[in-house]
Amino acid sequence: MLRPIVKYGTASLQAPAQAVTTFDPSLHALIDDMIETMYAAPGIGLAAPQVGVPLRLCVIDLSSGARGADVIVLANPEFVEREGMQLEEEGCLSVPGFQATCPRPARVVVKGQGRDGQDVVVEGTGLFARALQHEIDHLDGRLFLDRLRSLQRDLIVRKIRKMQRQDRW
Ligand code: NI
Repeated sequence: MLRPIVKYGTASLQAPAQAVTTFDPSLHALIDDMIETMYAAPGIGLAAPQVGVPLRLCVIDLSSGARGADVIVLANPEFVEREGMQLEEEGCLSVPGFQATCPRPARVVVKGQGRDGQDVVVEGTGLFARALQHEIDHLDGRLFLDRLRSLQRDLIVRKIRKMQRQDRW
């Protein structure tokens, strides 16, 4: 089932999410909905707070469904290692229409739990490292806008506020 993706300005995007504690059929239904919603957008990552659910859960698929088996489900992800720095354009399904060059670590190692609560460790460089950091930020109530220089961030926020006033957001 597709779930609506909430946009910048929604409270669930700005609050830290809570740990996933129960890996039951309702969590599996949420995971399946998130994957379907990510592919439909289309996007390469989606965090539960983006569909209004305040849980530490995200899905990532750099192919956005093109290769099928590549989706990664991460509950309660935590950084084990973070190193280096990369600068690339970044966007977010909750901030549609805006992209900005955002600093991120070049390589990360993340541990968390999979769909059934099993321990998983993933290592990422390049775009995958960026996606992992972006989604974990969502679980901490942070958007890529918060990683930009304030001048750059303010410019985008001003444009969004104007669209909100005109009912176009
Ligand atoms: Ni995002």
